[in-house]
Amino acid sequence: MKMNGRTSVVILSLVTLFLLGMAAQADAQECVTAECHASMGKAKFVHGPVGVGQCVVCHTSGNPKHPTKSVKADFKLQATGKDLCYLCHEPKDALPVVHGPINTGDCISCHDPHQSNTEKQLTKETTSQLCFSCHENNKTTMKMVHGPVAAGDCNICHNPHSAEFPGLLEMQGSDLCFLCHLDRQAQFELKYKHKPAEEACNKCHNSHSTDFSYMLIAEGENLCFECHKDMEKHLGDSSVKHSALDKKQCTVCHTAHASDYPRQLKSAAKEICYTCHKEMGVQVKKATYVHGPVKQDDCYACHDPHGSGSTKILKKAFPSEFYMPYATENYAICFDCHNRDIAIDRFTTTLTGFRNGDTNMHFLHVNREKGRSCKACHQVHAGNQAKHIRQEVPFGKMWSLPVNYTQTKNGGSCVVGCHKPKEYDRANPVKY
Ligand code: HEC
Ligand code: HEC
Ligand code: HEC
Ligand code: HEC
Ligand code: HEC
Ligand code: HEC
Ligand code: HEC
Ligand code: HEC
Ligand code: HEC
Ligand code: HEC
Ligand code: HEC
Ligand code: HEC
Ligand code: HEC
Repeated sequence: MKMNGRTSVVILSLVTLFLLGMAAQADAQECVTAECHASMGKAKFVHGPVGVGQCVVCHTSGNPKHPTKSVKADFKLQATGKDLCYLCHEPKDALPVVHGPINTGDCISCHDPHQSNTEKQLTKETTSQLCFSCHENNKTTMKMVHGPVAAGDCNICHNPHSAEFPGLLEMQGSDLCFLCHLDRQAQFELKYKHKPAEEACNKCHNSHSTDFSYMLIAEGENLCFECHKDMEKHLGDSSVKHSALDKKQCTVCHTAHASDYPRQLKSAAKEICYTCHKEMGVQVKKATYVHGPVKQDDCYACHDPHGSGSTKILKKAFPSEFYMPYATENYAICFDCHNRDIAIDRFTTTLTGFRNGDTNMHFLHVNREKGRSCKACHQVHAGNQAKHIRQEVPFGKMWSLPVNYTQTKNGGSCVVGCHKPKEYDRANPVKY
């Protein structure tokens, strides 16, 4: 709490006390005797004027018939409500946001005007008990209670009298939190700031208590869904969800506060996938031929990192089966970038380079009742053969068929387990 002007108040108080006290000396001594008001001044914390036996600084000198049944009528106060206190103390309602009981002048609901066993003559044993004598206690009832609240120290954040900021707060927004969490400030100053963390910490954290770890207002992905409704809907609509989300923690990839990378990612978009898919990272780095978008580190050209309606969280269709009847839309993800007609015509001289003369070899392999998927021949990420031809084709669960592809001037040759070694040549078709 700010103590500005405290010293001057004390001096002012003592002077006032002295002047008023001189005038009332005789009365005061009569008030506290062995028979009357004997306990006055005996508590642990005694209000300044009471401590020096000054009663009539606050009370009028009273009714000569005192004591009667109605003490209040006998001894009127020098002033009512807060005006009495302001005879000696600086006003407590100077700042723009004023606490309810200060507005109504009810200082004595919190301070005993005479004495108490609690510091500052508070009327309750602890600050939090005092607050909860008027406010419903929904602040300490949940599983995790915030450090200073657990310690009953409401005043560290709230001013009990008046304050600069709404909610009677000593500081606003994150400044309040950094009063204590200064050691964390650096992680909020990274290049890309998450908007709510820039605006106010309590959009995600409860200042008092919560049922969730880290003082959060909700748990895991539910916290994020409080605002990211589109993402919640998208995941709800996705038949395939990324297993990275199995534990419902968006923060395995994103940071909640700020990040050095766009999209609140924990590491660069091009590395984040390899932090878990380590083997693939190694494979891509070692490979001689890396597929265009993978070389660009753009996994997102094909995969949605959260979820999608297609197998392997692909953004568009790609069959999980090895054999299936042909339809162009089954391979929509490939035809996003490549000529969608490569397997349409049996004979062509333009649609594809996979030709023997004008016989379209893509058509032959792919466009049939038991058509082969692209992955029968192509490695979609990276590999060591030209034209992204894979080195082995998974066959059953236990075995992989090796594929040896050699590129030639006008075609290529395959040594595979599927059939006898074969060649194709666009200029001088091989006769079969
Ligand atoms: C700082 C101002 C102040 C001083 C000094 C003060 N009083 Fe009071 N006193 C009050 C106020 C305010 C009330 C009314 C409390 C209420 O309405 O609950 C009060 C009420 C009382 C009451 C009636 C209610 C009660 O608490 O029992 C008695 C008796 C009393 N005072 C005696 C004394 C005596 C004796 C002294 C001197 C030792 C003294 N007061 C000094 C402010 C003061
Ligand atoms: C006659 C002057 C006078 C009046 C009237 C008066 N006070 Fe005080 N008050 C003092 C003095 C003197 C002190 C002791 C000096 C100090 O510690 O600031 C004091 C101390 C206090 C303290 C403890 C301050 C501390 O830092 O420990 C509180 C709380 C307080 N007064 C509240 C009140 C309230 C509430 C009223 C009105 C009901 C009131 N005072 C009326 C003179 C007065
Ligand atoms: C809602 C409860 C509450 C009310 C109402 C209240 N106070 Fe306080 N007051 C406190 C608490 C709690 C402290 C102790 C603050 C601390 O330790 O930081 C305090 C501290 C003080 C102090 C000593 C520290 C300081 O800020 O100077 C004075 C003097 C004081 N109050 C006067 C008053 C006066 C005068 C009124 C009425 C205008 C009043 N209080 C009304 C709760 C209250
Ligand atoms: C004597 C009763 C009383 C006590 C004791 C009391 N308050 Fe209050 N408090 C009120 C009233 C009345 C309001 C105004 C309520 C309103 O405007 O809705 C209020 C308002 C508040 C507000 C502002 C709420 C808002 O939405 O702006 C805060 C914060 C607050 N009190 C904190 C405290 C703290 C902290 C304590 C303990 C130091 C405390 N109160 C003790 C009666 C009390
Ligand atoms: C770490 C700082 C901090 C502490 C400590 C703290 N508060 Fe708050 N309090 C806040 C903030 C910030 C708000 C504004 C709204 C919010 O974030 O919940 C608030 C709002 C309030 C409100 C008004 C809105 C509501 O939720 O009812 C009351 C009343 C209140 N606090 C009482 C207390 C009491 C009582 C204590 C002590 C038991 C306490 N506070 C301790 C920071 C704190
Ligand atoms: C008066 C000091 C103080 C203020 C102000 C304060 N805190 Fe805390 N906070 C603590 C203490 C003490 C702990 C418990 C110690 C710990 O777990 O590190 C804590 C714990 C936390 C934790 C849990 C940390 C963990 O590792 O589990 C979070 C989150 C937190 N505070 C957020 C906030 C936010 C948000 C604000 C601002 C509204 C805030 N704090 C204001 C003192 C403070
Ligand atoms: C968008 C929601 C959100 C906002 C806004 C937010 N936080 Fe957090 N905070 C979290 C989450 C989630 C965690 C849990 C740790 C994690 O998973 O990274 C956390 C953890 C913390 C922790 C404890 C662990 C740590 O990282 O040190 C502190 C302290 C903390 N936040 C303080 C703050 C402060 C201070 C602010 C405001 C400047 C703030 N937070 C704003 C979501 C948020
Ligand atoms: C209080 C609301 C709120 C909460 C809670 C919240 N966010 Fe945000 N988030 C936003 C806002 C606002 C933006 C900025 C949106 C914009 O610029 O279009 C944002 C931006 C983002 C972005 C960057 C989007 C982009 O297009 O660059 C990501 C990623 C993100 N949030 C993830 C999360 C995660 C993960 C969580 C949970 C830990 C979370 N958010 C919780 C409000 C929230
Ligand atoms: C496996 C890592 C990963 C997880 C887990 C993850 N994200 Fe993302 N998220 C990303 C990546 C990578 C991007 C950027 C994609 C891009 O640039 O196209 C992103 C982008 C976003 C965006 C901004 C772009 C958009 O698609 O709207 C938001 C918002 C977002 N994520 C929210 C979340 C939420 C909420 C969760 C938890 C339900 C979550 N993320 C979980 C990796 C992840
Ligand atoms: C936090 C760890 C983690 C991160 C980061 C991560 N993944 Fe995953 N991913 C998994 C887990 C776990 C699985 C399921 C087990 C498996 O297939 O390895 C999985 C599976 C997949 C699958 C197969 C889905 C299926 O249905 O079989 C794809 C595709 C995938 N991840 C792509 C990505 C992409 C792209 C990124 C980068 C945006 C990424 N992953 C980042 C953990 C992660
Ligand atoms: C050109 C589109 C495309 C790009 C770009 C792409 N993938 Fe894939 N990914 C696929 C396809 C198609 C499959 C399914 C292959 C299959 O069924 O054998 C797949 C499967 C996967 C799997 C599952 C592997 C398995 O054996 O089930 C993971 C993990 C994966 N991709 C991660 C990544 C990562 C990480 C990146 C970025 C480095 C990435 N992908 C870039 C198309 C792509
Ligand atoms: C985001 C665009 C994009 C998508 C989607 C895409 N590719 Fe590619 N692909 C490229 C680019 C760019 C190249 C040229 C660079 C290279 O050789 O990788 C390429 C090259 C190829 C090549 C070698 C062509 C040559 O003449 O050397 C094959 C084969 C191939 N892709 C197959 C596929 C298959 C199969 C799919 C679907 C699983 C697919 N691509 C999806 C962008 C894409
Ligand atoms: C039987 C193996 C096989 C299958 C199945 C296969 N391809 Fe190919 N593909 C090749 C070969 C071999 C080449 C190299 C042609 C050459 O000599 O340039 C090739 C070349 C390509 C090219 C480069 C442009 C072109 O047409 O020459 C693309 C793009 C391509 N394939 C996409 C696909 C897609 C998409 C699928 C699935 C719909 C698919 N391939 C299925 C073997 C295959």
